[in-house]
Amino acid sequence: MVPSREIGFLFRVPGSVALTLGAHRLSIEVPSSSDSGTTSIVPGLPAENFAPAPLLERPSLRTLPEQLAPFDPTPYEVVDRLLALAGIKAGDHLYDLGSGDGRVLIAAAKKYRIKAVGFEVDPGLVKLARENIKQENLEQLVEVRHQDFMTADLSSASIVTLYLSHDGNEALKPVLLRQLQPGARVVSYTFNMGDWPPKITEAYRDGAGDVHTLYYWEIPQSVVYR
Ligand SMILES: C[S@@+](CC[C@H](N)C(=O)[O-])C[C@H]1O[C@@H](n2cnc3c(N)ncnc32)[C@H](O)[C@@H]1O
Repeated sequence: MVPSREIGFLFRVPGSVALTLGAHRLSIEVPSSSDSGTTSIVPGLPAENFAPAPLLERPSLRTLPEQLAPFDPTPYEVVDRLLALAGIKAGDHLYDLGSGDGRVLIAAAKKYRIKAVGFEVDPGLVKLARENIKQENLEQLVEVRHQDFMTADLSSASIVTLYLSHDGNEALKPVLLRQLQPGARVVSYTFNMGDWPPKITEAYRDGAGDVHTLYYWEIPQSVVYR
C-alpha cells in the first residue's frame, strides 16, 4: 500500500484535472477563489492497465489577443543582474515592455533613482503593479500604462527591458530599431532577437546554481531595418 501524500502546486486556471503519473493516478482540484491548489496522490493500478493518457494541453496563460508573452516574473536576483547589464546611469529612462507586477520598474527606480515606465495589457497586472509602486512610494519615478507596447511611442526610452518570447522579440525588433535613439540599450532575459546579434550574451548563475541567459544590444547609428 502506497501512502497518500500531498504536494503543493501553483495553478492559475481553476478546474479539475485527472492525470496518470507513473503507477499513480492524480486528481487535481484547483479552487477558483485562489491560485493555489492541493494535489493528492492516490495509489492506483500500474500505468499499463490504463489506455494511453491523452497529452494534456498546458493551459495557455495568454488570455488577451495582444499578449505576446504570458506573465512569468523575472526572478528578483536576475532582475538585479539585468539592470546591471544595462549599464544604467543618471538620467536614463527605462521602459519595461510587458511590465507584469512592476518588479523591474521598481528595482530600477529604487536602486538607480531613474524614471521607469511600464506597458502592460493585463488589467489585473496593471493594478497589481500600481499597488506595488505605491507601497514603495515610487509614484514620482515609476508609471505603468495600460497599453499594448506595440502601439506605444518608445522613442524617449534610453533603456528597454524585455522578458517576452521569441515571437514577442521578433515582433518588437523592427519597432525598437525604428523608434529608439542610436545608443539606446536593450536587455532581454532568456530570449534573443534572431538575426540581430547581441553585443553581450551573459550566462548568469544564481545562488541556487541555475543558469539564466541575458542579452544586451545597442541601437546602432544607422539601421538597416528602417
Ligand atoms: C514574462 S512576463 C514579464 C514581466 C516583467 N517584465 C518581468 O520581467 O517580471 C511578460 C509580460 O508581458 C505582458 N505582455 C505581453 N504582450 C504584451 C503587449 N503586447 N503589450 C503589453 N504587455 C504585454 C504580459 O501580460 C506579461 O505580463
